[in-house]
Amino acid sequence: MNAKFEIAMLVGSLRSASLTRKIAHAMIPLAPPSLHCRLIEIGDLPLYNEDLEANIPASWSRLRSEISASQAAIFLTPEYNRSVPACLKNAIDVGTRPPAQNVWNGKPAAVVGVTPYKLGAFGANLAVRQCLIFPNMPTMQQPEAYISNATDLFNEDGSLKDEDTKLFLTKFMTAFEQWVIKFAN
Ligand code: FNR
Repeated sequence: MNAKFEIAMLVGSLRSASLTRKIAHAMIPLAPPSLHCRLIEIGDLPLYNEDLEANIPASWSRLRSEISASQAAIFLTPEYNRSVPACLKNAIDVGTRPPAQNVWNGKPAAVVGVTPYKLGAFGANLAVRQCLIFPNMPTMQQPEAYISNATDLFNEDGSLKDEDTKLFLTKFMTAFEQWVIKFAN
């Protein structure tokens, strides 16, 4: 298996100490060698406003070209009021416009929910999945990733100390590699 796939990772939290971002960083070294994963920044994207298409913000163009250059995407989401944080929905929306240039079209996706609490950001995970329907992203069904009690999972240096989580995320990334291969052309 020599193919290399560029995997865009989008994190739906903008705060510097984000647990979701820590999970994203921790997943990168757990991925099989064929997946080259990197975080795509979304905090500088102006809220979607069609008027801005006349003079496209540089950050919109950057996001669109980074997604175009990727073969697949992983959406990592905290849960805000049982749903998807606005910054992540905004990034998805920016990538879908103009309609004929939807950069997400056909790209395989996966969703990871992260919370310091017990319910695994279940509501946010499902809300993100709904957002990926119209952009036409085939989204991996299994395994589902609901990362709970996230505050307890890390060492001081941000690495994962919880072996069960490490094993789960390794399996998740291995399954995602197979999912990406299915859609590779
Ligand atoms: C939250 N939080 C939260 N957590 C949860 O499990 N379910 C929820 O519905 C919500 N709702 C919610 C709304 C808003 C506006 C905020 C700011 C927070 C708590 C959230 O899980 C916690 O702040 C996480 O640490 C956020 O993720 P990051 O920033 O650590 O990645």
